[in-house]
Amino acid sequence: MTAIVAVGAQWGDEGKGKISDWLAIHADVVVRFQGGNNAGHTLVVDGEKTVLHLIPCGVLQPGTVNLIGPGVVVDPRVLRDEIDQIEAKGALRDPSRLRVSGRAHVICDWHISLDKARDEARQEAAIGTTGRGIGPTYEDKVARRGIRMADLLDPESLRIAVDRIAREKNFELVELYRWKAIDPDVLYDELVALGRRLEPYVDHTGRILDEALCAGKHVLFEGAQGTFLDIDHGTYPYVTSSNCVAGAVCTGGGVGPTRIDGVLGITKAYTTRVGGGPFPTEDEGEGGRWLGERGNEFGATTGRKRRCGWLDTVVLREAAIVNGFTALAVNKLDILSGRSEIPVATAWKIDGKLTRDFPMTLGELARAEPVYESLPGWQEDLQGVRRYEDLPDAARRYVDRIEALVDVPVALISVGPGRDETIARQELFAR
Ligand code: GDP
Ligand code: IMO
Ligand code: MG
Repeated sequence: MTAIVAVGAQWGDEGKGKISDWLAIHADVVVRFQGGNNAGHTLVVDGEKTVLHLIPCGVLQPGTVNLIGPGVVVDPRVLRDEIDQIEAKGALRDPSRLRVSGRAHVICDWHISLDKARDEARQEAAIGTTGRGIGPTYEDKVARRGIRMADLLDPESLRIAVDRIAREKNFELVELYRWKAIDPDVLYDELVALGRRLEPYVDHTGRILDEALCAGKHVLFEGAQGTFLDIDHGTYPYVTSSNCVAGAVCTGGGVGPTRIDGVLGITKAYTTRVGGGPFPTEDEGEGGRWLGERGNEFGATTGRKRRCGWLDTVVLREAAIVNGFTALAVNKLDILSGRSEIPVATAWKIDGKLTRDFPMTLGELARAEPVYESLPGWQEDLQGVRRYEDLPDAARRYVDRIEALVDVPVALISVGPGRDETIARQELFAR
């Protein structure tokens, strides 16, 4: 048995989908444990692209069981549509291959409206949320007034809950934000219909997970977002509303920390960020434009242009600490081909003081100036390389330098979006 957690080490979109799909080849169970359809995970298998927002990446492997844990917030419409999309590909014939926790909280229309209304009201301080209702749904969960997936299967108590919540939400939407009210009757009817459609998938995912671990199966926990979007460890308030670090597997997946064997940190070979907030190595000049064009850096969920910049090992070291990385996956190394030199941040200067530690406050983060080391670039195309030894010297030096600066071994290197465009230096699931 091996239980591995794969999480983003930066601000999301590190290539978690690509790596999770690759790891899922040897996994029996794949688990989403936090976030919702703010995620956009891209998988490319035999040249065919699939973007998943809610369903775990194991769904494209015929024998894998996919769990959506209690820590995830579920928009039931999105789940239904994603199931339809996967079924149309012929990939989800057996509903027992997808299980959704009855305890996962439900995203409703009012959450989506409030998410958009609130971010609009923030004006220039906008977080730039995905507008999927994520924050307001987690708020309701913590305020103990949310609706859970299991509630959709009980029309009587659902009716009471919808009426109670609608009164409060409509007051806020209409009186505070001048937005349109949500009709509770229409919403109720839709939720009941969605409950009927999704009932075959709703289950006690914690129990399934426990049985799998006891039976010696391989389990992959697929993180969404990234360490610096984490509500506690990220660049608050420019973060999402869930914990995205490895520890969230325990609460959001329903598994004890003693059962986790390894934590894989996933990073791009450079850095991107979508939405507002500090990003010390952002390059708003030629370099950033070059990365964005070569890397095709547009959001998989909202289509927004991603902000681009160089690799930052201050960020990666902090991520290694808060997640306990046992290995790293470095993605999109192929994108860096064609430069004479590649900058990598090794420290930050804040108010004239040199530091290698991630600061505590948003003000310090905003004032952080990266201190760069320049590494030699390479011209060769990397997409056909499958063995570490076959990488150009400078590309190997780049990977080795990341390993040394972050002090975590690089187990996987990705040189293209396709499943097979992967260089493995270490077996993550014992076979
Ligand atoms: P995620 O949210 O972490 O799963 O990442 P996204 O799917 O949002 O964004 C990563 C993008 O990079 C997707 O378009 C992937 O297909 C693509 N990608 C992932 N790994 C590689 C790689 O090694 N090389 C290239 N060229 N593209 C990659
Ligand atoms: P994946 O899993 C990149 C960002 C949003 C915004 C902030 C809060 O594909 O890596 P939210 O809608 O969560 O309240 O938005 O977080 N964000 C992401 N950025 N990748 C993601 O997911 C993201 N999910 C949320 O852009 O800045
Ligand atoms: Mg993404």
